[in-house]
Amino acid sequence: GRAPQQQWSTRVSFVLAAAGAAVGLGNIWKFPYVAGENGGGAFILVYLACIALLGVPMLMAEVLIGRRGQQNPVNSMASLAQEAGASPAWKNVGRLGVVTGFLLLSFYVVVAGWALAYIPLTATGTFTSMQPPQIGQLFDGHLQQPLPLIGWSTLVLLLTLGIVGRGVRQGLEKAANLLMPLLFLFLLILVGYAATTGHFGDAVDFMFRPDFDKLSASGVLIALGHAFFTLSIGGGAMMIYGSYLSPQISIARTSILVAVLDTAAALLAGLAIFPIVFAYGLEPGGGPGLIFVTLPIAFGQMPFGTLFGTLFFLMLSVAALTSAFSLIEPAIAWLTEKRGMSRLQASVLGGSGIWLLSLGTVFSFNIGADWTLAGKTFFETLDYLISGWMLPLGGLLMALFTAWVMKPETTALELGGNSAGYRLWLLLIRFLVPVVILVIFLQAIGLIGL
Ligand code: PHE
Ligand code: NA
Repeated sequence: GRAPQQQWSTRVSFVLAAAGAAVGLGNIWKFPYVAGENGGGAFILVYLACIALLGVPMLMAEVLIGRRGQQNPVNSMASLAQEAGASPAWKNVGRLGVVTGFLLLSFYVVVAGWALAYIPLTATGTFTSMQPPQIGQLFDGHLQQPLPLIGWSTLVLLLTLGIVGRGVRQGLEKAANLLMPLLFLFLLILVGYAATTGHFGDAVDFMFRPDFDKLSASGVLIALGHAFFTLSIGGGAMMIYGSYLSPQISIARTSILVAVLDTAAALLAGLAIFPIVFAYGLEPGGGPGLIFVTLPIAFGQMPFGTLFGTLFFLMLSVAALTSAFSLIEPAIAWLTEKRGMSRLQASVLGGSGIWLLSLGTVFSFNIGADWTLAGKTFFETLDYLISGWMLPLGGLLMALFTAWVMKPETTALELGGNSAGYRLWLLLIRFLVPVVILVIFLQAIGLIGL
């Protein structure tokens, strides 16, 4: 096991840190726009089912590997494979996790940079004096220029490294204990504010009245992929956070709590955003610009829009930051434990790598705007590769490993005994999870049509 300084001091700290990893751009930026694009209620129902039936067991599997391995993802996978008498090649699953987190962070910092840029823009009342097309131009033009974008994403990265560099208790735990309650407080305030528009009922209808005619097969797949993305499954983040968890704490109960908090954050974000969108006759299906173009248009016209708009982008930035910590931590742990670096050295090296990679995303909006692969820009391709392939593949391999490679005695021990709950988990992780992920992959490469 790890030294106490390398462990969460309480169960609540783990839940908050893991919820910090889970609640991110996925909940507040991506969830509302994909739900909007895919018709609302029916999509959200499928998404909730995916979280409960697939997401929770997968989250438990990933945390379990970390908790039992007590090291960075690569070494944890290696030692658990050895314990089970399996091939050492399983450590590549840990490597995949580290690389996926690294790549994801390289474009996460860019989107988080926009969020950060919007705090001063909103606070100074920029949107109150602008016409809707100008707001669109601001986002498409100025904010996608290399210099401001590099500046803001570098700031996100520096803030991330400043916390992560301090270690588990002094950095990750302290930040989560402070920021996560604030995040939920801000969300609740914003839902209250959205309710004053008088369109709260429309939003509730849109989100919770399923109309299955509006849901396509591809919408189902998006709901599924997003359920993994939003819970941070398959990228090594939950594995490394699980490795800082002490043996007495229940993996099942904490994982369920993390999933509940993540789901609550997404639904609250929807309830904060959609009433505002509907009140101003705007479109919920506006795509990625929902948060950065549509919402500022509304904030620009609303009473107290400057105040609450600023609060909104502050909240979005906090959500993004606490996820960014978890995306670089697998690499930091690997560099310190396996390469013998100090946390500072690891942060500088890891941070520089992310920074260089992020330039790819930055320049794809400008000089590379016309470079497309199968009609997708670099930015979209990276997002698709990571959320559509790398995270589900990592998740699948972790599920298979805990389900079929680790001995049931070992997993039962980690999950608190051979109870009915344990047997349900085993059933889901052995059969339902792999079959569903395989179906997604076969569908994505066109071998089966849904
Ligand atoms: N769950 C995060 C979000 O919703 C994204 C993430 C994925 C973070 C994988 C860490 C690992 O934004
Ligand atoms: Na999330």
